[in-house]
Formats: sequence, structure tokens, C-alpha cells
Amino acid sequence: MTTSTPAIDTSRATDRASLLAALAGEDTPTAPVWLMRQAGRYLPEYRAIKDRYGFWTMISTPEIAAEVTLQPLKRFALDAAILFSDIMTPLCAAGVAIEFSPGPIIAEPIRTAADVAALRLPSVDEIAPFVAETIAAVRSSTSTPLIGFAGAPLTLATYLVEGGASGDFARFRAWLPSERETATQLLELLTDLTIRYLLMQIGAGVQVVQLFDSWAGLLDRASFARHGLPHLHRILEAIAPTGVPCIYLAVGASHLLTSMRDLPVQALSVDWRTDLRTVRRAVPGPTLQGNLDPAILLAPASVVAEATERVLDDGRGGAHVFNLGHGLRPETPPDNVAALIDTVHNFDRHQEAGRSA
Ligand code: CP3
Repeated sequence: MTTSTPAIDTSRATDRASLLAALAGEDTPTAPVWLMRQAGRYLPEYRAIKDRYGFWTMISTPEIAAEVTLQPLKRFALDAAILFSDIMTPLCAAGVAIEFSPGPIIAEPIRTAADVAALRLPSVDEIAPFVAETIAAVRSSTSTPLIGFAGAPLTLATYLVEGGASGDFARFRAWLPSERETATQLLELLTDLTIRYLLMQIGAGVQVVQLFDSWAGLLDRASFARHGLPHLHRILEAIAPTGVPCIYLAVGASHLLTSMRDLPVQALSVDWRTDLRTVRRAVPGPTLQGNLDPAILLAPASVVAEATERVLDDGRGGAHVFNLGHGLRPETPPDNVAALIDTVHNFDRHQEAGRSA
């Protein structure tokens, strides 16, 4: 593979609605589009690099991480790049040993007060310095906006306590009400770490950040209010002075929508279970991002086009950033991704809806 990151022709993107305009609340004539996991196993060029280097080397080597970040932009007319990394990346500097297979595995889970006390809060410069270098390399190679990201404290904690991905994180759900003080200490440390990590990324040049709360939906409203919201507020308040817009993603969390009303975020990213019209009514204000079911991309092209237009239609009436409801699946045909992006760019959001309600 080449380790250089040649400049990309982004001229196709210049006259299109920009991600930054939509995140500023502008009801743009076309929806900007990017896709969660847009760099990943569905791309043969990603698999070739992964086979050669392995996931962690890819993330921690700036030239490779920058190249992988740019791979989907070379193929598709995407309106944003997302840093190639993982939500678990900053935890290494806090003293957690993590492996990927392919999801994160924590051989020594964090469950007791002593486990939490043994973690350390690294300084900004100590947290994944290779990420800052990756960001600089991507920014110098493309004018397409670059999205940085972090895991929300609750979602980071699910992995740390459970020890890895699990179907429904039952151990974590039992632990949270059993070890409330330890939980709060862990979540506060993760909040401080996340603030430092996001400020580092912003300082290095990301133009947008996304907070991934993939497992927020596991909690009921009261638990989310206690263990999720205060930490989210603290993170959002800490990054607000930078002026960098923040997108908050919670998966399977429509029961928490009203709890999210007061979150000072520029955009809410929602999964496919709740249509955007309903979300906009429940949470008027922020830009909406989403929300095609990633499984639809495994269907024939005509089904992809129809479902994509339905999402675009539902996104009318306010600012919309087109995305999937969760990450691209590895078995997704790249041709369907190209067709999806064309459909989004050809859809005039200001023309009367052609679809009957
Ligand atoms: O979206 C992007 O293209 C940017 C890169 C990115 C990755 N992980 C790369 C990755 C981002 C934004 C993430 C975030 C992430 N990581 C989340 C939040 C989003 C979500 O999916 O809910 C979570 C929960 C993780 C933890 C994690 N890392 C899991 C569950 C897995 C396995 C998932 C899978 O796809 O099998 C990983 C590994 C991982 N992170 C891969 C990639 C491309 C797959 C690695 C491989 O190629 O084997």
C-alpha cells in the first residue's frame, strides 16, 4: 500500500449542500450525506490493508489511518470524512488493555472501586497522540469536512464493565444499580477523559464531532437521567466554547427522546426504528441525522432507492444530514452505497413531496 495521502478531487462536492450548513440548522436544498462505518470491511481496499496490518496498527499509524479515512471519499461523493479510529482508542492511555476481535475485548474488566481507582486520567498530550497526527494528515489532503468522535461515557462503561461486546449487556445492567458510587466514579473519569480527547481532536483540526452512545437505549429513562445525561451535559458544555458542532447518536433510544430535548447539541442522530418526522415533533430544534436501516443496503437497488427517498421525505421540514440508522454492515455491496449517495444528491428537499402520506 502507499503511505502517502494524495489530495482528493472534491470539486464535485463544492456546489452541494454542506454538512456544516446543515449542522448550523440550515434547511439545505439537498441533504449532505456521510455513512457511519463508511471506512470498513465492505470495501476491498479496506480489507487489503486490514489483512496486512491488523486493526490496531491501522488506527495507531497516522499514515495508514489517514489513508483508510480517505478510502471511501475516493470511491463515493461523500460530504464528510470520519476519522478512522475507535471509541475505545483513548482508554489505553487511562490504563486499560484492549484487544479487537473484531469488537473490543477487555481481558480485565473494570467492576470494583479498586479497579476504577487504578485507572488514571491522562493529560491531553498523552491521549492517543497518533490521532492528532492522523487528523492533520487528513486535513491537509482534503477540503471535505472531517468528523472526529468519541464514545459517550455510558457506552464506554458498558464495554469496560462487561468485558466486551455482549448481546444485551446484562452484567452491566445489573452492575449499574448495584455499584452506584463506583459507577459514578467511573463515569466521571470517562467524562473527563472524553472532554480532553475531544478538545485534543478539535485542536488538531476536526470540524465536527460525534458522540456515539450506542448502548444508551439499554437504560430506562430514570437510569439514563442519572447515569447518562449529567455526563453528556458536562462534555457538551466543555466543548461548546470551541464552536465545533456536535452530533449525538443514541441507538434504540426512542423512549429517551424527550430526555434529549434539553441536550445542547447541534444534531441528533437517530436509528431507523423511529421515523424522522416523529423525532422532529418530539425534539424540535436540532438538525436530524439518519436514519436508513443499514440492512436495507442488502436489498435490490429499487428497494434501496425507495427506502432512501422515504427517509429524505421524512427529513423535510428542517435541517437534515442523511446517514444510516447505525453502521454500514460488512456484507454491503459497494455499488448500493454509490446508488444511495446518488439518490440523496438528486433529491430536492424543497420541492413538494411526491410521496403521498
Ligand atoms: O465510522 C467510521 O467509519 C469511523 C470508524 C469507527 C470505527 N468504530 C471503526 C471500526 C467508528 C466511528 C467506530 C465507533 C465505534 N466502535 C462504536 C460506536 C458506533 C457503533 O457501531 O455503535 C462502537 C460501539 C465501537 C466498538 C467496536 N469496535 C465494535 C462493536 C467493533 C466491532 C464491530 C464490527 O463492525 O464488527 C469494533 C471494531 C471496529 N471499529 C471495526 C471498524 C471498522 C471493525 C474492525 C475490523 O475490520 O475487523
